[in-house]
Amino acid sequence: MMAGHRPPQETAQHGAAPARPRAGRGDALSASAEAAAVERRYARRDTVRDAQRYSLFDPAALAIHQERQRALIRLLARQGWPDLRGARILEVGCGNGGNLLDLLRLGAQAELLTGLELLPERAAAARARLPAAAQIIEGDALAAPIEPASQDIVLQATVFSSLLDDAFQQRLADALWRWLAPGGGLLWYDFVFDNPANRDVRGVPLSRVRQLFPQGRIVDARRVTLAPPLARAVCRVSPRLYPLLNALPLLRTHRLLWIARPH
Ligand SMILES: C[S@@+](CC[C@H](N)C(=O)[O-])C[C@H]1O[C@@H](n2cnc3c(N)ncnc32)[C@H](O)[C@@H]1O
Repeated sequence: MMAGHRPPQETAQHGAAPARPRAGRGDALSASAEAAAVERRYARRDTVRDAQRYSLFDPAALAIHQERQRALIRLLARQGWPDLRGARILEVGCGNGGNLLDLLRLGAQAELLTGLELLPERAAAARARLPAAAQIIEGDALAAPIEPASQDIVLQATVFSSLLDDAFQQRLADALWRWLAPGGGLLWYDFVFDNPANRDVRGVPLSRVRQLFPQGRIVDARRVTLAPPLARAVCRVSPRLYPLLNALPLLRTHRLLWIARPH
């Protein structure tokens, strides 16, 4: 669907259409152009293969998920969140809501969760999976009506790597930063390297993360996730090989990090 044909944004709570904030003409045009390009790139994807590949019944997907969850839990605890009760959490590009579901299991409260998702079918899937109290806002995140400084944790997982326009990436980073409350943190999980098999994504090295969030303090960064093609190959032999290969940081393709917003 073209971005211009999208129905108004709606929330799971109200089904209403909050007014979109106005943007400058230049901003609105280029922002919607990149959002439309993202939609076109996702339309090319093989959704059946994706569903199989990311299903937790797939041994490699399960190993990747479990390793990331362990790293995430340790990171959250180090950053003062041994339990997510009371945390106002927003995920940009929440897809079908899988990460938000995981956060509920860590104590997050549905009424304090917000997911922003560009693609209508993914936003609908997130609404179907999450408790009704969670708010899912469909449309381009740049136009989402989020109050400045209203979130304790803002999460982005493999969204920036799917944005090929530098200026759009920066505008989205600025918005995420604006939404964070002082003392809050931005939780980042994304590719470090380009993927030669998928030109629709690009790696985001640490130097670029620093550029995107110049006011932020990266306080906890580590490489995670055994390169997925390798993970799939070794898990076909035995899932027990995953931690052995993953012990080599050079074989890990993603970075998990926390960017603290000072008080
Ligand atoms: C690779 S998926 C990751 C989904 C989810 N974060 C996860 O980890 O499973 C990236 C998601 O970001 C969404 N996205 C990309 N650009 C967006 C934008 N401008 N506003 C809202 N969502 C966006 C895409 O539609 C897609 O669902």
